[in-house]
Amino acid sequence: MKFEPFVMERCLCRWENTVDWNISESGVHPMTLAELAGDVDLGDTLLGYTQSNGTIPLRERIAALYPGSTVDQILVTTGTAEANFLSALTTLSPGDEVVAMVPNYMQLIGACRSLGARVIPFPLVEADGWRPDLDALEAAVSPRTRMIAICNPNNPSGAVLTEDEMNRIVEVAERSGAWLLSDEVYRGAEVSGEECPTFWGRTSKILLNAGLSKAFGLPGLRVGWTVTTEAKATELWGHRDYSSLALSAMSDRLAQIALDKRPQILERTRSIIRRQLPIVERWIASHAGHPVRLRWTRPLAGAIAAVRYDHPIRSEDLIERLRIERSLLVVPAQHFEMDGFLRIGFGAEPHVLETALSIISETLAEVAQETAVAA
Ligand SMILES: Cc1ncc(COP(=O)(O)O)c(C=O)c1O
Repeated sequence: MKFEPFVMERCLCRWENTVDWNISESGVHPMTLAELAGDVDLGDTLLGYTQSNGTIPLRERIAALYPGSTVDQILVTTGTAEANFLSALTTLSPGDEVVAMVPNYMQLIGACRSLGARVIPFPLVEADGWRPDLDALEAAVSPRTRMIAICNPNNPSGAVLTEDEMNRIVEVAERSGAWLLSDEVYRGAEVSGEECPTFWGRTSKILLNAGLSKAFGLPGLRVGWTVTTEAKATELWGHRDYSSLALSAMSDRLAQIALDKRPQILERTRSIIRRQLPIVERWIASHAGHPVRLRWTRPLAGAIAAVRYDHPIRSEDLIERLRIERSLLVVPAQHFEMDGFLRIGFGAEPHVLETALSIISETLAEVAQETAVAA
């Protein structure tokens, strides 16, 4: 098995700690240990091995988020990334087909392709405000479909499915007999403050993957989970024995604290999003008289927005120029196998966000000027 490069993650990893202006992150500015722990004394935490499927107190807290689930239906993982990876590993064989929502966080899609599966995209249609093309989903499903992969709320668009759209996706999944994998790591980070519906409870053949990295602002804990059938959870657990084995004891303890404080932590995330989204909105409006116009569909969740620029420059060339000339990192559409937009991570601190956006405007003006001179 040969893994294809995960282009976005490698780019972020290589550059995000070297640039002055980083708006490539998809989460909100993370919490500190002191903020999370508050007055809980962590000094008595035993730094032994934890249970390899997650301690019972942690799985009880996760189960409470998914009505009707039990601790035996949950596998705790090292981030949502491992939940996605193990889901693909246990479900797919070479030649299987996966029908995947695009655009999407490319980790799952890359893992599926690396495992020899054929990935057939069904789009969120940008011109339609990133609504899903469910006829395309129906047309893509075949007897070889083993998995339908959803990312909701979506990375990079911040789009959120309606209940009707979710129900139709469930109908298609049930008719095909495929597993429905729903990555819901951004759920809880809605701009409106009202939690969007989950796929949990709508169908039994589900892999519900999520974690603490985005809506909770705790990516450094590396805590994720899968909620699924008891049999599938046991199968995933068997694979985890060979990958990361168990969560660090500190992360398990801190994850319990985070889940106990979920309402306050989600309010922190949403207040950052509500404060900073208008900065991006004003920036886009300010381009009305700029040589390069910008447009978007306002995201409904997450601290990310896909902002399309009206210029033919390849998004990878644009971000390379921004990085090399202006020490700024932002994610290009090409990392989502599309082009012509930037994924703006607006969860960074306000002065970083504002400075970064004005640098992008300056570079876009230069690019437009160069094109005009060359013409
Ligand atoms: C949709 C999605 N799933 C999973 C991940 C990985 O999350 P984690 O840090 O929980 O492994 C990301 C990270 O950006 C993501 O956007």
